[in-house]
Amino acid sequence: MRFSQITSAAALIAVASAANAASNTGASADGATGTTLLANAIQSGSFVDGSQEIGADEADQAKSLTSTNNFINNCAGKTLTNGLQVVGGSCNGIPMGDIPAKTAMVSSVITFPTTGGTQVQSDTTFNISVQMSNLVAGSFTNADATYFAAPQFLSGGQVVGHTHVTVQDLGNSLNPTQALDATQFAFFKGINDAGNGKGLLQAVVTGGLPAGNYRVCTMASASNHQPVIMPVAQRGTADDCTKFTVGGNGQVANAASNSGSGGVAAAAAAASAVAAGPGAVDPNLSSAAAAASATASAAAKGGNANAASAGKASASGSANANAGNAAKGGNANAANAKAGKGGRKQRARREFIA
Ligand SMILES: *[C@@H]1O[C@H](CO)[C@@H](O)[C@H](O)[C@H]1NC(C)=O
Ligand SMILES: *[C@@H]1O[C@H](CO)[C@@H](O)[C@H](O)[C@H]1NC(C)=O
Repeated sequence: MRFSQITSAAALIAVASAANAASNTGASADGATGTTLLANAIQSGSFVDGSQEIGADEADQAKSLTSTNNFINNCAGKTLTNGLQVVGGSCNGIPMGDIPAKTAMVSSVITFPTTGGTQVQSDTTFNISVQMSNLVAGSFTNADATYFAAPQFLSGGQVVGHTHVTVQDLGNSLNPTQALDATQFAFFKGINDAGNGKGLLQAVVTGGLPAGNYRVCTMASASNHQPVIMPVAQRGTADDCTKFTVGGNGQVANAASNSGSGGVAAAAAAASAVAAGPGAVDPNLSSAAAAASATASAAAKGGNANAASAGKASASGSANANAGNAAKGGNANAANAKAGKGGRKQRARREFIA
């Protein structure tokens, strides 16, 4: 590319990023409902494999896969992720979404426990604290049914999402040489609140940890649990890890470990969502509550949609009450609407959420 071409390309890029900055606040109407790829959404950058473009001079570079249609059918014929935590692996066709400016990249630092700081005592409750910047914290979607199911999005130019802390046992040394088994964790918690509103987030490690050597890491995520995506390759990490020791003689595994009651329950809930299939309504929502809620929604719309067409289709069929009849018959009174709201299944909220 000649210099003049480079400068005009740079000008085009500048225009494009200004437009992005103005519009990157969520899915456009067409973006969330149309079934055709719009001309102004086609990314011509994916037409090329990189071997002839700026940056091609780096030795041993792999050629990129290419597509003239944004890979919209990349997952056709494969096991779709479909909002589920598919343990055997899957293909996710949802776009990555909105990316913040370089000046608003997510960053984290763990402020407790600290390296060489106050020692945590075994079997004793403590808080893991993380100070973050450039994350609109406190937003998390249903991790069992909407995992990776929507793009990353921004608010005020910052990624909307949440973070997690994951603690793993390092064994006999703070400096093991084998990579840790990612299925094994001594404590895991999604931090789903907004903390102090200034980026200080905390997870209570109720009951503490057995004595030992540990690594705690953060995993910053967009609302739908995907790792945050950032605008430039050369950057500091969005996450932090700290190694620490737990003193004393306590040996009690935390309930939020992979084999603890919380860890097992969370994995079971994710598996039951996979078994029920994509978009299935929780069979434990009582049919009365589902009917009343569908009635209220049909009444509000003035339509005669039944529970299924209102998007409440249930794999088990238990929530398939016909709200349309009630709406037609004028039975959607205030009492029913109230029952719909209040009748939502009162399942104890899990503390242990991805
Ligand atoms: C631990 O974190 C919880 C939840 O954020 C908070 O309510 C509590 O005050 C924290 N405790 C300490 C000692 O910081
Ligand atoms: C429904 O509730 C029962 C009883 O509490 C429980 O055993 C079962 O796991 C629940 N099913 C789902 C899918 O949450």
